[in-house]
Amino acid sequence: MSEYSQQFGGSWTDQKLDCLQKYLHAYATIFNANQRAKFFTTIYLDAFAGTGYRVANLRTDEPIPADEEPTLSEEERLLLKGSARIALELEPGFKRYIFVERDPSRVEELKRLRDEFPSKDILVEHGDANTYIQTWTAQTDWEKHRAVVFLDPYGMQVQWRTIQSIADTRAIDLWFLFPAGIAVSRMLPKDKPPPDSWGRRLTELFGSEEWRDRFYTSSEQETLFGAEETLQRDASLANIGNFLIERLETAFDTGGVLRQLMVLRNSRRSPMYLLCFACGNPRAKGTALKIAGDLVTKYTFAEFLSV
Ligand SMILES: C[S@@+](CC[C@H](N)C(=O)[O-])C[C@H]1O[C@@H](n2cnc3c(N)ncnc32)[C@H](O)[C@@H]1O
Repeated sequence: MSEYSQQFGGSWTDQKLDCLQKYLHAYATIFNANQRAKFFTTIYLDAFAGTGYRVANLRTDEPIPADEEPTLSEEERLLLKGSARIALELEPGFKRYIFVERDPSRVEELKRLRDEFPSKDILVEHGDANTYIQTWTAQTDWEKHRAVVFLDPYGMQVQWRTIQSIADTRAIDLWFLFPAGIAVSRMLPKDKPPPDSWGRRLTELFGSEEWRDRFYTSSEQETLFGAEETLQRDASLANIGNFLIERLETAFDTGGVLRQLMVLRNSRRSPMYLLCFACGNPRAKGTALKIAGDLVTKYTFAEFLSV
């Protein structure tokens, strides 16, 4: 383990996966122990599933993008479990697992992983996470199913319509790795609005144009040459986190949004992602928020933002 991971209780990937693992374990335990809950078919859906394993840099503990893997020597890489394998190894488990992945070679890896667990009901889907989830949420009978969805993109891939479709089921608990530092703050230039193409992507991610007023305020200033309009940006982590929570609360409108966000930083302490949680089921939200809140604030030794 690097100095960084010893100091902060693991790399940001470890923190994220540790949180997910403990939540899935608590969830499956409740559904397996409770007579009434046993009625439901439980599903774990991992929409950016990867391969089931992940390669980390041994020196920094940080994940290595697939295209950089070949540049590292055997001594520098560390093979670790990814979210799909972590979920499959849990006992008690879920009744069904769905892994969605866009990259064909990763899909093949996921199929090999599926073959290691012949007694489990596992669906491996090659495709786009947004398209799959929006169809799946519309076609599943939510009177009979309950699910945990994990959205673990590298960047801006999640569309707000996907979040809304998850919330609308009122039957899904969501863990979402939000790309606050790695993408959003970098797409908000200091003294001018983002170019149109970035603006469209931000609107797709937040599901609203409101981000323009949340991250920028304009004011008039007197200069030697008369009044000049200047644009002030506030792309602080707290402002992005607050806006994210506010948006989640419009989708999950029955009070199931966790108001603490786990801040995931890289080895140079720069914030990369915010891990957020929301429970769509109004009857389950008390228990879900308690478990998720404890994980985010207590068990992972991670820093969190409370908004
Ligand atoms: C951060 S990695 C996932 C890591 C995985 N959760 C784990 O813990 O091992 C993101 C994955 O999403 C895949 N991906 C990217 N865009 C996608 C999309 N639109 N739909 C589905 N998968 C996508 C990438 O190929 C990559 O494998």
